[in-house]
Amino acid sequence: MSGAAIRRRPIVAGNWKMNFGPSDAHAFIIRILDDLERIAGVDRVICPPAISIAAAHALTGASGVALGAQNMYDAERGAFTGEISPLMLRGLCEYVILGHSERRALFGETDELVNRKALSALAHDLKPIVCVGERLEDRDANLTERVISTQVRGSLAGLPSERLNDLVVAYEPVWAIGTGRAATTQDARDVIAIIRALLGEMYGDEATAGVRVQYGGSVTAANARELAAEPEIDGALVGGASLTVDFVDIVRAFAEAKSLG
Ligand code: PGA
Repeated sequence: MSGAAIRRRPIVAGNWKMNFGPSDAHAFIIRILDDLERIAGVDRVICPPAISIAAAHALTGASGVALGAQNMYDAERGAFTGEISPLMLRGLCEYVILGHSERRALFGETDELVNRKALSALAHDLKPIVCVGERLEDRDANLTERVISTQVRGSLAGLPSERLNDLVVAYEPVWAIGTGRAATTQDARDVIAIIRALLGEMYGDEATAGVRVQYGGSVTAANARELAAEPEIDGALVGGASLTVDFVDIVRAFAEAKSLG
């Protein structure tokens, strides 16, 4: 594989979803921050709900732990009730999750919108974590490759080549999210290979060799080591388990597996 020669820094992000308001966020970060800080060789990212980002930043600002938002709108300001803008995130967050399957399925986000957001994130010095993944019915109908191709081509079109190292792609099969049924490493490897091939077609293998591709979907402290041992999996996007101290073990699993490689 083209990516084999380059060493990508692993990245583990915790997506808290709609959990932990400001005071709960504060209390939970106090519990895990010291342990997270001690783990070297891996990017550690916490993604609180928007209302808790400032409280989280007050604790993580001077640490090696980065923050990510779970979503943003592409415009800088204006009459967009309920939305948050890249200008508001800048300085607080280093990353922003875009196109999570829950946003796509429950809030009608399209590849076209996700693409606008990804372009806007990069233009405002935020690193997008762009999620793609097939539904169970897609997989059962052998449509995984087609669905992934449409999402990758649509969501990641026209990105500036010189900024591709700031792009993170999260492969999250929808059937694995919150179900306790993680993809096998083989399944993850196969789809990540498809994603890498698509990125290579769009931007060239060299320009995309540094793009990190995470796996997400029922990652736990129990399966993290096996996932992390797979060279093509550069990290994890963790939902449920990021609400517990298990998140620290998952981060550690990736740091250890990747430092041996
Ligand atoms: P999960 O969620 O780890 O709870 O399956 C992952 C995600 O939605 O990012």
